[in-house]
Amino acid sequence: MNAEPSFDLTGRVALVTGASSGLGHRFARVLANNGATVIAGARRADRLEKLTEEIADTGGAAHGVALDVTDPGSVKAALDAAEEIAGTPTILVNNAGTADMTFALEMSDEDWRRVLDVNLDGVFRVARDGAKRMADAGLSGSIVNIASILGLRVSRRLVSYCVSKAGVVQLTAALASEWGRHGIRVNAIAPGYFATEMTDGYLSSPAGQEMASAIPLGRHGAEGELDGALLLLTSDAGSYITGVTLPVDGGHSLEVMA
Ligand SMILES: NC(=O)c1ccc[n+]([C@@H]2O[C@H](COP(=O)([O-])OP(=O)(O)OC[C@H]3O[C@@H](n4cnc5c(N)ncnc54)[C@H](OP(=O)(O)O)[C@@H]3O)[C@@H](O)[C@H]2O)c1
Repeated sequence: MNAEPSFDLTGRVALVTGASSGLGHRFARVLANNGATVIAGARRADRLEKLTEEIADTGGAAHGVALDVTDPGSVKAALDAAEEIAGTPTILVNNAGTADMTFALEMSDEDWRRVLDVNLDGVFRVARDGAKRMADAGLSGSIVNIASILGLRVSRRLVSYCVSKAGVVQLTAALASEWGRHGIRVNAIAPGYFATEMTDGYLSSPAGQEMASAIPLGRHGAEGELDGALLLLTSDAGSYITGVTLPVDGGHSLEVMA
């Protein structure tokens, strides 16, 4: 039998947080290329304008909305705007994130909170508010949270980041267990290392190059290598997948025996 999974997203409305750069920018383009109307959210409005123009040039539909995931009023306003422009988003990609490279002994309460606010509280807030609108409208949907392999293992000088991403992994499973009955699937992608504004400096350093050679596939991730996971989890191809965190990391998170 030929398997014919459908990755088509025609008619869906997708909200991508942190769409102004890096992985989120790519996710917005991929979802639009596969038929979704994309609501691209972030704080840097100029970047969003450029992104939505690029998507329109390739025949897709996208709209930028100002969004700060740490601000409940901003999340509400972005979802209101999305509903007005395109309808209730039934795909949410919780991608906005930040990191703080500080050793734990030097980390202030404010620094700790800033990372948790964006990476964990922000994901919960957008997921809860978005899911509530789907449930109220009687719509099923798919939420994809962007975790990290640092939610599955740890790295020095990134304690707040590691804890926030481990929280996203548990949040994903816990929300999936509650929202399945509304037809809302909740999954996470745990990327390995990909070159973006967040990681560029480190990946091109000697330490970053050395790390690449220890990865089973022998390299960091390349642009486009998260597309398949994103489309699987957001589309009907993944209609029976919920509660999972899918590492996309070239085997980086494996415990490799010598
Ligand atoms: N690159 C990697 O190797 C890697 C690996 C694992 C996981 N990740 C995760 O992937 C996600 C994207 O990261 P990236 O590598 O693409 O980094 P990036 O280029 O720095 O992108 C981060 C995005 O988050 C947005 N953002 C930050 N704070 C925000 C806030 N308060 N409200 C709304 N948006 C906010 C930024 O937009 P504005 O500044 O315009 O608001 C930006 O678009 C993050 O969750 C990151 O932890 C990345």
